[in-house]
Amino acid sequence: MDSFVIRGGTPLAGTVAAASAKNAVLPLIAACLLTDEPCVIRNVPLLADVATMLRLLRSMGVRVVQSGRTVTITARGRLDTTAPYDVVRKMRASYYVLGPLLARFGDCRVSLPGGCAIGTRPVDLHLKGIEALGGSVRLEHGYIHARGPRLKGGTMMLEGHKGPSVGATANTMMAAVLARGRTVIDGAACEPEVADLAKFLNAMGAKVSGAGTPAVTIDGVRELHGCRHAPIPDRIEAGTFAAAACATRGRVEVTNCEPGHLGAVIDRLRAAGAAVETGDRCLVVTMKGRPRPVDIGTAPYPGFPTDLQAQFTSLLCLGRGTSTLTENIFESRFLHTLELNRMGASIDVNGNMAIVHGVERLSSAQVMASDLRASAALVIAGLAARGRTEVLRIYHLDRGYERLERKLAPLGARIERASA
Ligand code: EPU
Repeated sequence: MDSFVIRGGTPLAGTVAAASAKNAVLPLIAACLLTDEPCVIRNVPLLADVATMLRLLRSMGVRVVQSGRTVTITARGRLDTTAPYDVVRKMRASYYVLGPLLARFGDCRVSLPGGCAIGTRPVDLHLKGIEALGGSVRLEHGYIHARGPRLKGGTMMLEGHKGPSVGATANTMMAAVLARGRTVIDGAACEPEVADLAKFLNAMGAKVSGAGTPAVTIDGVRELHGCRHAPIPDRIEAGTFAAAACATRGRVEVTNCEPGHLGAVIDRLRAAGAAVETGDRCLVVTMKGRPRPVDIGTAPYPGFPTDLQAQFTSLLCLGRGTSTLTENIFESRFLHTLELNRMGASIDVNGNMAIVHGVERLSSAQVMASDLRASAALVIAGLAARGRTEVLRIYHLDRGYERLERKLAPLGARIERASA
């Protein structure tokens, strides 16, 4: 298992490009199951999660040709419409094949994902979407067996008690594009990744409107065709670089970035005392001195993303006072705080709130990553702390950040990958 060895204490300075968004690319790959024609996705980040998704499609009999960052996917011929436990338990997003498989083949079996390090993560809203389209779902032997040979448009409210669901909105959209008649999803997730999926589906010949708002309308079509698409930039990776710049009191320009997707993040950076300039597809973040304490509550888009909560916790550990981070999306997303406290942070967790008492400096340590974004938080803490920090189990990080060390090193970070 690889780890990172970081010698921290150097302000980050320079320019770094964000990759295409992992959470946009994963549903796009699944959407390719909706047609037997080739679909071409460009600028695909080389991530472990992307490799897992492509492996899942290959295991179903789909032809996948990868040439650098361009992936051509052709779902032609007889396909095996099962997503096995072995894949789904490793990557929850493999669940995205449910909607497209059902839409195209009328029958599929997808393993239930189970819990994960950040919470219970139920799938009731995904199933609600399928049932609203006239599909039936049966749970058997740890699998969801979905059937719907003649899906029909329907109207539904997809918002759950924690708010809208990105995954359920995307899955239902993909199931509805080939259904007969009109589907209206109320309480839809507004994340830019959902809007990007709609753009992709429309390029395939679908009729999706309103994506990116809480009301999405889909007029079913008889069939879809191949298309070409480049996904949106990764707002979470951009936010991670911004937090790292601030924690090290540096100045970083993030290119291939859509500042319009980062409104709540930019607001909190400024509240913490960072200077943030936005330009055409770029963001420049400068921080002098320790951050001011701020309060952050995670929320569905356009609120502050849960996927940046951990990274901002690391930043606020160094604040000039007490900050709070309230996690409103995933109940167990605070494992990083235990490791940060081992690095000299002073964080109390009370229910879904982390109370962060700022300290002057963090001290280097050997720490263990528990999930993808927690790993990024530990890297940021290691970059800010003086001395040698070792972040173990970075396979979590490789799921969502492509060779992070190669992006940070040109900014002056002293970070190396050690292979065990
Ligand atoms: N929820 C339900 N029932 C459902 C589905 C979701 O109650 O059927 C709840 C969840 O438990 C959670 C809330 O609704 O409390 C929102 O979950 P959502 O379904 O939106 O999350 P997701 O689609 O499973 C995606 C991202 C996550 C990101 C969340 C929230 C992908 C592949 N994953 O997950 O990304 O945190 O949206 O923005 O797009 C990450 O990249 O590190 C990551 C975890």
